[in-house]
Order: sequence, then structure tokens, then C-alpha cells
Amino acid sequence: MSERTEPSQQQTGRTAAHDSAFLRACRREPVPHTPVWFMRQAGRSLPEYRKVREGIPMLESCMRPDLVTEITLQPVRRHNVDAAIFFSDIVVPLKAIGVDLDIKPGVGPVVAQPIRTRADLDRLRALDPSDVPYVTEAIGLLTAELGTTPLIGFAGAPFTLASYLVEGGPSRNHEHTKALMYGDPELWADLLDRLADITAAFLKIQIEAGASAVQLFDSWVGALAPADYRRSVMPASTKVFDAVAGLGVPRIHFGVGTGELLGLMGEAGADVVGVDWRIPMDEAVRRVGPGKALQGNLDPAVLFAGREAVETKAQEVLDAAADLEGHVFNLGHGVLPTTDPDALTRLVEYVHERTAR
Ligand code: CP3
Repeated sequence: MSERTEPSQQQTGRTAAHDSAFLRACRREPVPHTPVWFMRQAGRSLPEYRKVREGIPMLESCMRPDLVTEITLQPVRRHNVDAAIFFSDIVVPLKAIGVDLDIKPGVGPVVAQPIRTRADLDRLRALDPSDVPYVTEAIGLLTAELGTTPLIGFAGAPFTLASYLVEGGPSRNHEHTKALMYGDPELWADLLDRLADITAAFLKIQIEAGASAVQLFDSWVGALAPADYRRSVMPASTKVFDAVAGLGVPRIHFGVGTGELLGLMGEAGADVVGVDWRIPMDEAVRRVGPGKALQGNLDPAVLFAGREAVETKAQEVLDAAADLEGHVFNLGHGVLPTTDPDALTRLVEYVHERTAR
């Protein structure tokens, strides 16, 4: 008897989304229009988000499949974006393996006991699917609701996770993190390798539950010089991409302030490289090299400038991206919390209309 008599839920979800504009662009295939989604589209810019989150702490909301499903769907309903992004946070897998941390409103993730010694590292154990049953359950609910709209899973990249763990919270200069990286390369390599395993496991769980693509957020990696990135960070990020390479979903790689790192980020192994707003897409593609799709890159602050300016700047992005093998339109970083949601809806409409073929 065949082991697979009926298609599993994840196969159904991915099959339905397979020909979506978003997944086609990631695979560098022809598209009916340039697909659009926004980093941080699910969140505080939406009044319906603030309403369902009332009185519920951020981490608790990530552990409730009903809430995760509702919040993930809100921007899809409202903006007609081409993909949903799973509502969670990069620190959720760390919390799930017992790291004492919280997400403080207006601050970000705060870690009670920062990791700076070998003994601290020993506290970081491997992630097992049974640590995050709410993730598997929420993705099952979501793929059933989303139909042909793909769901993007995500995780924090080893460097960005290490920065929160070593600093103990958000940091401007990453001085403790860099002190460990430069001062104790062996402990640093072991920390990043451990985080790579946790991140890879978290992405696999999401893909096996039905996510159609994954994004690795290396938000703060732009703080590094290229040689340090290559030596001390890239091996861990590559390990993550390699671990999910055979699972048949596009892998997106994003960081902020990464103009000088784009070539190496391309080499690290993703299928799609995210670009922030500081580099035009035609220059970004020269730096990344052939064989990759690009994602980006409207400055999120442009959305505060009024309709005409938004359209002018969005058109500049589209023009600069005209010759790419694959383009996923996005902002150059996450939606800012005070953004007018209608400006986002109009931007989706604009990109769809201007690129319809
Ligand atoms: O993109 C989405 O819509 C999906 C949800 C998502 C969240 N965080 C929800 C969230 C994603 C993809 C993330 C990733 C994340 N979290 C990153 C990488 C992306 C980036 O912005 O560079 C980082 C660095 C974090 C860590 C983190 N979590 C920060 C810096 C903050 C903001 C703190 C604040 O209040 O200003 C969070 C909290 C967080 N994560 C919120 C949301 C919607 C806000 C919490 C709230 O609404 O109370």
C-alpha cells in the first residue's frame, strides 16, 4: 500500500499557491503582475490588529492559533497583497526552548540573562516541533483559509538572534555581540552554529506545516564589514539555507543597510535577496549577481508623503527593477506603526495596475 493515499494539508496549500504571482516571481518565471507584500504588514498599522491584541501580550498572541490566524489574514483581506506572512516573532523559537525573554512594547525583545559565556551557551538547547505546536496548528488553519494566496514563514538569522541574546535587548552598536565575535571566535562560532540549527528547525516546522516560502530576517547584519560577515556569520546563514534547500520552497534573505554585503548575501544561498531602500534595484542586481530574484525596496517613510509622492517613488522602484529576472515588490524595511493603512492599499493597487501584463 502506498504511504501517501491522500494529499496532506501542506501539499494542498502549496499546490493551490504554486502558480501565484509571488511564487512565480521568486522562481524567476513570467508573472501576470509584479507581486507585492509588506514586511510587518500584520501589525500595529492596522486598527483591527490593535483591537484583537487589546490586553494580550505580544508573545502570548503568538502562541494562540486563533489569533495568529486572524492577524495573519487581516492585511491580506484589507490590502489585497500577493502573500501572507505568518504572524509571529523572531524570538518565538528562543522562548520555546526556555530562554527567559519578553517583547516589551516600544522596545523589542529583552533577554533576562544575556549569553556571553560557554556556560550561557549550554543553556541553548535544540528546537523540537513539540516545542511549538501552536505554530503547526496555526499554519494548518491558515493554509486552509488562504486558498491560492501563499503563506511566507520566517525566522531570525543567526547573527540577528545572537545580537538580541548577547546584548540582552535591542542595540545600536552591537558592542557586546562584536566583542564576542572578535574576542572569542570559537565560542562565537559555536553560538552561531547552535542558532543555525534552531533557525533551520523552526523553518522546517513551518514548511512541513504548509508554508509556501520562507524569509530569513538578518535585520542587523548591515552592522558588519564584508570580511567579518564572510568569516564569522555567512557559514551559519548558509547552513540554514542548505538545511531547507531540498524542501521545494523559495528562500528569501533580508537585512537592513546591507549595500556592501549584497554579493555575499547572494552567495550565502538564498533564492531571493531582499534589498533595503538605500540602493536602487538596478545597482542591487549587479551586486547580487545573476540567478537570483530580488525583493524590495520602497523607503517605508515614503508612505507618509502623500499619494503623488508615493506613486512617483514606487514608479522609480519599478523602473529600476524592470530588467530583473524576478521582482517581488516590498518596502525596504517593515511598515512603520503610524503608517496610514489606506496608503498601503493604494500602493498595492498602483503596483498591480502599472505592471499588469
Ligand atoms: O511581518 C509581519 O507582518 C509578520 C510579523 C512579524 C513580527 N515580527 C511581529 C511583531 C515579523 C516578521 C517580525 C520579525 C522581527 N521581530 C524582526 C525582523 C524584521 C525587522 O523588523 O527587521 C525583528 C528584528 C524582530 C524583533 C522585534 N519584535 C522588534 C524590534 C519589535 C518591535 C518592538 C516595538 O514595540 O517597537 C518586535 C515586536 C513585534 N513583532 C510587534 C509585531 C507586530 C509589535 C508588538 C505589538 O504590536 O505589541
